[in-house]
Amino acid sequence: MADVFDLFEIIRTTRSMRRLKPEPVSKALLDTVLEAGTCAASGGNQQPWRFLVIRDPAIKAAAAAYYRRGWHEVVGPRYRAGGSAPTGTPESFERMLAAAEHLADHIHEAPVWIVPCQGGPRGSGASIFPAVQNMLLAARALGLGATLTTLYLIHEAEAEAAMGIPQGYHSYAIIPLGMPRGKFGPVRRAPLAEVVFDNTWGTAWPATEGGGPGAANGL
Ligand SMILES: Cc1cc2nc3c(=O)[nH]c(=O)nc-3n(C[C@H](O)[C@H](O)[C@H](O)COP(=O)(O)O)c2cc1C
Repeated sequence: MADVFDLFEIIRTTRSMRRLKPEPVSKALLDTVLEAGTCAASGGNQQPWRFLVIRDPAIKAAAAAYYRRGWHEVVGPRYRAGGSAPTGTPESFERMLAAAEHLADHIHEAPVWIVPCQGGPRGSGASIFPAVQNMLLAARALGLGATLTTLYLIHEAEAEAAMGIPQGYHSYAIIPLGMPRGKFGPVRRAPLAEVVFDNTWGTAWPATEGGGPGAANGL
């Protein structure tokens, strides 16, 4: 398990862990993850979230059928027709696709799902996804594998009915959780110089202090 106080190490190694062991996750660990979720910011501190924790195999199986369909009929073919991620190689893209397909076929076997929900019309999720990220980081810190998934929303109404989400509420993700089969490793992301601009759109963030206009003022 990572040192829970090494936040940056946890952030850099919180990858999607799509191959999970079926062994149950203790309520104590789930409580820690869920509490981390409820520590997140929300607009006006309204804490609009409700978290449906699904461990019942029959409910997972019923909703997983829609996830599987979404992958095999829509998302899998779309990814296969497209190119790899900007920082990836064809090989790493193939590995990601294989892992995503594995998850699609086995998501119901994950011992627990956390389904973050919010009442009212479907919104941007801006008050939900901070809680989701907190939970992903907390899971990683505890040695639990997790993946933020949304592709089941292709069959939103059917999947939400299968999960028993009441009228007036929407789910924003399914997060399958369990002990990972593989190892945590560093995430693969583009360097800051490619994605950060310095004052002016298109001006690359400098590699060293002193490169930007603000530096002259000690900023
Ligand atoms: C909004 C969102 C939706 C996602 N939906 C899915 C999904 O439905 N299924 C899946 O396997 N991964 C899903 N992912 C995970 C991404 O594919 C993954 O984070 C990305 O490939 C980077 O890989 P990494 O998390 O291992 O670094 C989703 C991620 C985000 C942020």
